[in-house]
Amino acid sequence: MYKYKDLLEIRTLSAEEIGFLLDTAGPMKEIIKRQIKKVPTLRGKTVVTLFYENSTRTRGSFELAAKYMSADAINISGSSSSVAKGESLYDTGRTLQSLGADVIVLRHPMAGAPELLARSVQAAVINAGDGAHEHPTQALLDMFTVREKKGGLAGLRVAIVGDVLHSRVARSNIWGFTKMGAEVRVCGPATLLPAGVEETGALVFHQLDQALAGADVIMMLRIQKERQQQGLFPGLREYARLYGLNERRLALAAGDALVMHPGPMNRGVEITAAIADSNRAVIEEQVTNGVAVRMALLYLLSGGGAQA
Ligand code: CP
Repeated sequence: MYKYKDLLEIRTLSAEEIGFLLDTAGPMKEIIKRQIKKVPTLRGKTVVTLFYENSTRTRGSFELAAKYMSADAINISGSSSSVAKGESLYDTGRTLQSLGADVIVLRHPMAGAPELLARSVQAAVINAGDGAHEHPTQALLDMFTVREKKGGLAGLRVAIVGDVLHSRVARSNIWGFTKMGAEVRVCGPATLLPAGVEETGALVFHQLDQALAGADVIMMLRIQKERQQQGLFPGLREYARLYGLNERRLALAAGDALVMHPGPMNRGVEITAAIADSNRAVIEEQVTNGVAVRMALLYLLSGGGAQA
C-alpha cells in the first residue's frame, strides 16, 4: 500500500495511502507504551537525520523512533558538519549514502530540497520540513492524533489558524485532512494567508470567531517571528487580540473540540497558556504520536516490512 522510495509530501498521496500509513503507526504506538521500548525490527539499518534548521520534536522523535526499532541512528546538523565548509546537499547526501545510510531524514530551509536529495541517492529520503512547502510527518502525526481521539477524520471541521503563509505544517495538513474527507478552514489576516489557498479546497476566513464556529479541531500555528521582517501584521499584541485562542473563542467551537499546536508555541500570542495546559489541548499527545508515526515510516521505507 506504500509503494514509494521516499516520503516527500502529502499532496501526492491518496487517501488510501494516508490511511495505510496511519494504520501502520497504530502498532508502533503499542511499542512506545511498553516499559521496554525496543524491538529488533530495523537491526542493521542506518538512519541519518540531516538538519539544516533547528528542531526539537522532529529530530528527537526520528532519532528515538530509529533507536526503539534497533536501527543505528546518527544526527548531522548543517552548522556542525562540512556543510559549513560549503559542501553541497548533493555531495552531503552521497557521502551519507557511502557511509551506509538506508534512510536520510532531511530538514532544509529550501522548498524542494528533499526531492533533489531523493533523486540523488538510493537511500530513502523523508522530508522533515522544507521551507514553506510541506512537513508531511507532522501532518501524519496530527491526523493520527485526531483519528485516535475522534474515531475518524471524514466530516470533521478542522480550523487551521494563524501564519499559514509561512507554515509547511499548514500546507501538509490542508492536503491531508481534505483528502481524508474533513472540512478544512484556514483563518488569519490576509497578509498571512497564501494567495490561492482556496484552490486546495480549504475554506478561507479572516474573522477567527467565524472560523471557530462549530469546529471539531482547532490547530493553532506558531507566528514565525524569524520570518516576519516584512511587517505582515501591526504587532504581536494586536495579533493576539485578533487571532489568539482564548477561553471565549474556544467556547465557540464544538464542546469536545481538540486544541492542537505543532510547536514550538508562543504562549500568550497564538494561544493562552491556560488553554495550552488545559485538558482540551492534545499538544503533548501530538509529540508522543510523532514517534509512532515516524517508527511506521522508518519501518516501511527501510525495507523493514520485508524482514518482519
Ligand atoms: N513541529 C515541529 O516541526 O517542531 P520542531 O521544529 O521542534 O521539530
